[in-house]
Amino acid sequence: MVEAAATTPDRLPAWQALLRHAEAYKHSHVAALLTAKGQEHRFARFSRRVAGLTLDLSKQRWDDDTLDQLLTLAREAGVPEAIESLLSGQRINQSENRPALHTALRLPAGATLEVEGEDVVGAVQESLSRMETLVKRLHAGQWRGATGKPIRRVVNLGVGGSDLGPQMVTHALADFRPDDIHRLKIHFASTMDGSQLVDYLSRLDPETTLFVLSSKSFTTVDTLSNAGTARDWLISRLTDKGVAPVSAELIIRQHFIGVSARPEKMTAWGIAPAHQLRFWEWVGGRYSLWGTIGLPIALVIGMANFRRLLAGAHAMDDHFARANLEDNAPVMLALAGIWNVNFLDIRAHSILPYDGRLEYFSAYLEQLEMESNGKSVTRHGEAAEYSTCPVLWGQLGPNAQHAFYQLLHQGTQPVACDFIAPLTRYDDVKDAETRRLLQSQHRLTLANCFAQSRLLMLGDEAIDDEAPRPAHKRYRGNQPSTTVLLDRLTPEILGSLIALYEHKVFVQATIWGINPFDQWGVELGKQIAGQTQQILEGDAEPDGMDASTRGLMEAFWAAGGG
Ligand code: F6P
Repeated sequence: MVEAAATTPDRLPAWQALLRHAEAYKHSHVAALLTAKGQEHRFARFSRRVAGLTLDLSKQRWDDDTLDQLLTLAREAGVPEAIESLLSGQRINQSENRPALHTALRLPAGATLEVEGEDVVGAVQESLSRMETLVKRLHAGQWRGATGKPIRRVVNLGVGGSDLGPQMVTHALADFRPDDIHRLKIHFASTMDGSQLVDYLSRLDPETTLFVLSSKSFTTVDTLSNAGTARDWLISRLTDKGVAPVSAELIIRQHFIGVSARPEKMTAWGIAPAHQLRFWEWVGGRYSLWGTIGLPIALVIGMANFRRLLAGAHAMDDHFARANLEDNAPVMLALAGIWNVNFLDIRAHSILPYDGRLEYFSAYLEQLEMESNGKSVTRHGEAAEYSTCPVLWGQLGPNAQHAFYQLLHQGTQPVACDFIAPLTRYDDVKDAETRRLLQSQHRLTLANCFAQSRLLMLGDEAIDDEAPRPAHKRYRGNQPSTTVLLDRLTPEILGSLIALYEHKVFVQATIWGINPFDQWGVELGKQIAGQTQQILEGDAEPDGMDASTRGLMEAFWAAGGG
C-alpha cells in the first residue's frame, strides 16, 4: 500500500511556508486582491469546469503564490499517491482494516477492478440487478402486501448514511420520476423517538405499505426500534381488522425489504432472503447511497435515472484520478478549505444551496464532512496539533438570508461559505406563461446568490454610497466563498456534485493525516445510552452516576417515569 506522508502536516516544509505566507493575508482584505493589477482574469484563473459543474474559487482570500504553496503541500502530504490508493482498493481504512470502495459502486458495467484477487465490479453489478428486479416489481404494481393489495407507499427506516443520502437525492431529483410507473410514495423515518414513524402510521394503510429496513450494520437501535414498531403495527392492524387470516410471517415477508451488509442479521430479524439486498463492509455508511442503500432513490427516479446518477459520480471519479492537482476540482476545493481552516483560522463553514430541490444537501454534507473528518488523532495515533474539520452547517440560501446571514455579514465569526446554484432551470415547463414567471423567479434567485457572495467578499466596497453609513449599517466583508454552478440539476450532475464533495473530504483527510472512513467518536455514546436505558427502565441501579445526570433521571421518575 502506498503510504500517505508519515509525518503530521504541520512538520512539512510547505506547511511552515504557508504559515509565513498567511501572516500578510490575515490582515489583508479580499477586496484589495480583487482590485490588484492583473486580477481581471481572476475568475478564469481560479475556476474549474468538470462534469457539468463550474467550481469558482475566485472569491477565496488567496492568490497565485498561495495556490502554488498549497499545491506543494498537497504533494508533500502524498495526495496523488493517496488518490491512487483509494481508487485501487487499498486498505486505507486502517482502523477497520479495509478499503473504502464507494467509487467501485459507480464503475460502469464491463469495467474491472481487482481487489485482493477478486473483481468487485461483477458483484456490484449483480447487486444492482437484484435491486432492479425489486424496483421493477414495485413499479409494475406486482408487489403485493399480505392481503393481496399492491404496495403504494414505501417507508425507508434508516438513519445517518442509511437515510440522509437517499432522502437528499430523492428530494433533489423528484422531477425525474418516470411517467409510466405505478405511483409509489416514498417516506423517510429516522428518529428513534418514533415521531416521524407515528405520523406515517396514523395516515398510511397497512395493507399497501412496505418498509425498507436500511442499516449497514443492522444493529442500529434507532432503526431497529422503528422497525419493531412498524412490524407490530402491521401485525396488529392486519390481524385485528380481520382483513384476512394472514400469518405474522407472511406479513413480515411481504411488507419488509432489508438492505444491509449483514445478511445473517436480516435473516434473524425475519426478512426473507429473496427480499434482502446486500452490500459490503467496504462501503462506508455515509458513502452508501450509490448501491443498494439507494433503493428509495431508484424507486422514485427509476433504475435508468439511478444509473445516470452513478455515471455522473463516475465522471468525477475519473477526473479525480486523472487530472493534475492544479486542474483537479476536488483537490482545489479541498485546498481552499485547508487554507481557510489552518492558515486563516476560519473554522466555520456554511453550505448555501440556491435551489429548493437541494433542501437536504447541507444536512447530507454535515454527516459526510463532520463524521469523516471530525477527528483529532492521526492515522499514526498522534494528536493532531492543528485544526481539522470546521463546524459545518447550512440551509437553503434564500431562507438563510432571513435567518443567519446577519451573522455572516455583521457577526464576529469568520465563516467560509459554499454557494450552490443551477444555471438553467424551468426551460422544460410546458405552459409559456408559467415558464416565464418561474424563469423570472430563477433569475431573482441567482441574483440573490451572486449578490450575497459579492457582498460577503467586498463588504461596504460592494456599493457606492453617497454619504458614509453609521457603524451599525456597515459591512466589513472579507468572508471567503466558493460558488458551485450546476449546468442544470440532472441525475448526472448531482452525482458529480456529491462525488466532488466526497473527494474533497478525502483530500483534506489526507493532508490532515487522518482516517476519514471510520467514526469511533459515535460508539461510546451508544454504549452509555444502553446502560442509561437500563437504569431508566428500572433494570439497573444508578450507582456511581454523576450528580448532574442523576438529577435528570430523578426528574424523569418524578414525572412518572414515562
Ligand atoms: O452511528 C453512526 C453511524 O454508524 C453512521 O456512520 C451510519 O451512517 C449510521 O450510524 C447508520 O448506521 P447503519 O447503517 O449501520 O444503521
